[in-house]
Amino acid sequence: MTAKPSKQRKATPSDGLAASYPYYLAGKAVAANTDLEVLDKYTGKRATRVAFADTAAVRNAITAAHKARGAMAAFPHDARRDVLEHCVRRFREREDELALALCIEAGKPIKDARGEVTRLIDTFRVAAAEATRLGGEVLDLEISERTRGYRGMVRRVPIGPCAFITPFNFPLNLVAHKVAPAIAAGCPFVLKPAAKTPVGALIIAEVLAETDLPKGAFSVMPCSNEDAGLLVEDERIKLLSFTGGLVGWDLKARAGKKKVVLELGGNAACVVDADPGRALDEVVERLVVGGYYQSGQSCIGVQRIYAHADIYATLRRKLKAAVSKLPCGDPRDEKTFVGPMIDEDAANRVEDWIKAAKKAGAKVLVEGKRQGNMLPAALLEDVPHDTELYRNEAFGPVAVLEAFEDFDDALRRVNDSRFGLQAGVFTGSLAHAMRAWDVLEVGGVVVGDVPSFRVDNMPYGGVKDSGFGREGLRYAIEDMTEPRLLVIRG
Ligand code: SIN
Repeated sequence: MTAKPSKQRKATPSDGLAASYPYYLAGKAVAANTDLEVLDKYTGKRATRVAFADTAAVRNAITAAHKARGAMAAFPHDARRDVLEHCVRRFREREDELALALCIEAGKPIKDARGEVTRLIDTFRVAAAEATRLGGEVLDLEISERTRGYRGMVRRVPIGPCAFITPFNFPLNLVAHKVAPAIAAGCPFVLKPAAKTPVGALIIAEVLAETDLPKGAFSVMPCSNEDAGLLVEDERIKLLSFTGGLVGWDLKARAGKKKVVLELGGNAACVVDADPGRALDEVVERLVVGGYYQSGQSCIGVQRIYAHADIYATLRRKLKAAVSKLPCGDPRDEKTFVGPMIDEDAANRVEDWIKAAKKAGAKVLVEGKRQGNMLPAALLEDVPHDTELYRNEAFGPVAVLEAFEDFDDALRRVNDSRFGLQAGVFTGSLAHAMRAWDVLEVGGVVVGDVPSFRVDNMPYGGVKDSGFGREGLRYAIEDMTEPRLLVIRG
């Protein structure tokens, strides 16, 4: 995604957002000469402008983070907790403003936007608690005569400056999943938010600027992808955490000696067993949420549904009815379920994939007409397995449905993917649940719900092309710290 900085500076229709937002360099607000236009994703009109960092600013941010590494490591754990708790309080006070910002800049239906703000608060709340339990380990070193009288202790120390690159689909909470553990771990950081949705990250930075974090501890700056390359390649950065598309693997190849954490999406599958363990109406309700919330723009949105032949016809009928009724339109409207996609190119691409699948023989159960970046919910059946819609990440409001006869065969189909982030399994059989957990090549198996289920303290990340490493506060803190051993000869 290439950011297009705009040089114009006219009065803006703020529409719930401030007229402009500064970026934050080493904790200080900067109103740069160059700025980036942020569109209201529903109206297509300019919603606000944000300051856009140039190469020199990105370099300065890295230098500031590098200089702040000692101060951040020495910043007491209870002070880290206090910073995070301050954020929790301020986010609660600014809840409505944050939800509206998401609704405008991401086109996220207002109910989903409120849900994301709740999760933002949870993420910081859990990080605040983790900040004072970084812990360690006492080691028994007396393993032979030679080592008698030696004791070992391990504690975790911050890894150092971190670089974060975040995507457009969760402009608050996926930023929180990098920023909050970094503060808890004692790491300074530079964050580049998505160019299409930078406002959420800049409001988080505004709140961080109210705290007494050490000088230089954080920078949050929209910048070009080229300048973000500095974050990827600079040797002073010790960890790169990237959430986004498959380009993450290229970043990893350029990252040199630094640790890399990647969350790169998937084409998540959900299996509905002959005995789903729940009423089919409830299964359908969850599949609809998983497949179509925020227009399917989630890395764990339900894309592939495998339903047992015994319940297939009923599930198909109920799902078709539910999907065809989904209200689509203005994300500010409380009734809207499917809002706009992030831009017209994205909607166009998904529409093309649907057309190609139809041409290849897929049957359409539900579809609507695209208008600009509004793509109504779609459901297809028996999509050939060599199509883009089946094989790749749709990241749009579309799901594919097919029947299976044998549970193990369904698990094989789930695994027949280059991705492996999360999978959902509706089953009333404990043996099937355990088998799924054993066999599925994913970072997480959700039994009794869709793969789209996430609680912010659970380990979250994938295998295969879905990525590398885990987020979820404790797991991210683990990556952002390293063990330091003390040996004492008694
Ligand atoms: C993602 O799209 O990777 C994030 C999903 C979530 O946090 O619910």
